[in-house]
Amino acid sequence: MNSIQTDFLILGSGVAGLIFAIKTAEKYPERKICIVTKDHTSESNTKYAQGGVAVVLDFEDSFESHIEDTFRAGGYINNKEVVELVVRNAPSVLSDMITWGANFDKDRSGELDLAKEGGHVKNRIVHFKDVTGAEIERTLLEKVDSLSNIEILPHHFAIDLITEHQVKSGTSNICYGAYVLNEETNQIETYSSEIILLATGGIGQVYKHTTNPLIATGDGIAMAYRAKARISNMEFIQFHPSALYEPERSPSFLISEAVRGFGAYLLNESGERFMYKYDDRLELASRDIVSRAIDSEMKIRGKKHVYLDCRHLDQEKFKSHFPNIYQKCLDVGIDVFNKLIPVVPAAHYLCGGVQVDSLGHTKLENLLACGECSDTGLHGANRLASNSLLEAMVMGSRLAENVVLTKDTAKQVIIPFWTEAGTIQAEEKIIITNNREEVQAIMSNLVAIVRSQKRLDSAKLRLELLYKETDQLYRKTKISRELCELRNLICIASMIVEQSIDRKENIGAFYNKDFGEMKIAYPKAETL
Ligand code: FAD
Ligand code: SIN
Repeated sequence: MNSIQTDFLILGSGVAGLIFAIKTAEKYPERKICIVTKDHTSESNTKYAQGGVAVVLDFEDSFESHIEDTFRAGGYINNKEVVELVVRNAPSVLSDMITWGANFDKDRSGELDLAKEGGHVKNRIVHFKDVTGAEIERTLLEKVDSLSNIEILPHHFAIDLITEHQVKSGTSNICYGAYVLNEETNQIETYSSEIILLATGGIGQVYKHTTNPLIATGDGIAMAYRAKARISNMEFIQFHPSALYEPERSPSFLISEAVRGFGAYLLNESGERFMYKYDDRLELASRDIVSRAIDSEMKIRGKKHVYLDCRHLDQEKFKSHFPNIYQKCLDVGIDVFNKLIPVVPAAHYLCGGVQVDSLGHTKLENLLACGECSDTGLHGANRLASNSLLEAMVMGSRLAENVVLTKDTAKQVIIPFWTEAGTIQAEEKIIITNNREEVQAIMSNLVAIVRSQKRLDSAKLRLELLYKETDQLYRKTKISRELCELRNLICIASMIVEQSIDRKENIGAFYNKDFGEMKIAYPKAETL
């Protein structure tokens, strides 16, 4: 069995992991940084980000205004210290990205073009067309390539953290590294490291309809849970209002909120704008409100989607700002200037995760967490649009600037080898595939935008059965990525359900119909 020692072990190669790697490599040029990532190096939620990064750059805007918008979206339960530091450090991390070669769109006067998204009172979204995430990922991977002390290992799936549980009360548990399945050799390797960063991203795949790619199975959060870290705010799942309605496609293709920021309208089956019934900010209310409004319109009419109307928009400007969305719609037979786009809410972002302080420390010694898998408290009960790339950039940099290596070399500890004794090769994978689909169905049907105690209890019961069956399978059969992902998805789903049961009021992205019906304000047509 291979045993690898490194100074910094990073799990995940999205924006959070890569920024931390770059800044750490520059700070400690003599130290070894190793990034393990379960798919191709670029595969991540980051790569699919469309809208952009929220940054205050303009004299007409202010940090105070961005801070207030972040609080308002988050139901005012956000962590004040983190909100302040993320918003105020945005210009500096943007400047790093530009120095490393990232392109962002400019306006006619040569200044960065600032778009608008839901929940923001000002135009403050820096973007590159509608493929901002791909541009960020490209830039960071190129920068990583130029640093000789970073090694990046694709197709390496982290299975579990290696920990020592202290028996003395008052002392924290220690993390020493991770067991990793090298999918190229099919061997399980042991990685030990002085500092371990979880940067494993989101959990969208726990739902049937999600904008998140297949990698988003919540592995890091599930690993941290098993290692006894604290996991918080899992009930706050953000549903993006406008995923393209293609029932058989997974993941769902996103129609960026920036399209509504550009002036597109939402219409119901009767061709009427409806957002005036729900919020004065209309199509640019925060996502929780728009998604619930769409859900309500669909239920009233028994329909599976609503529509996005772009027919009145400036065609040349639209094509220049949203070339990817324009092309995707054409590919499925929709010319957005002549036809309506069918859209539906889809699971998009987890506001909670592994609880960390403002320096990314988890409850375990040596274990840090950053990006979508972490819960810094920035988002409170609901994330403001385009605040998550920003959070990962600011926190990734901050963690690297503050991390301290205490030893000259990676800690020498005796780590038990992984043993697969007594396990057998799985004969077929049908149970794994079936159980994954079942988790997704339970979550989509019972634990989605609108929840209730009855639905949550029912989901809990079903997940317990799935947990038992999968746990037995895990103990008996040889490890595979599919099996580990299923085990993690069940763990994540159970945490979402339990923390939803514990939440006793409607706030932000959390909505339980037992605590009151959604307010619909008729009529306010004059606001149109
Ligand atoms: P990710 O980018 O998801 O990276 C996680 C990494 O961990 C991946 O490399 C993955 O392969 C790896 N990994 C996971 N599990 C394991 C494991 N077990 N072993 C090894 N490696 C593992 N946010 C914005 O601010 N603005 C936007 O415009 C925006 N648009 C979005 C559009 C879409 C379609 C989506 C899906 C998200 C969007 N978001 C946006 C959200 C944002 O992209 C993510 O929150 C952010 O990119 C998360 O970065 P991350 O580094 O934490 O995680
Ligand atoms: C979008 O482009 O609508 C996504 C923005 C985000 O998730 O912040």
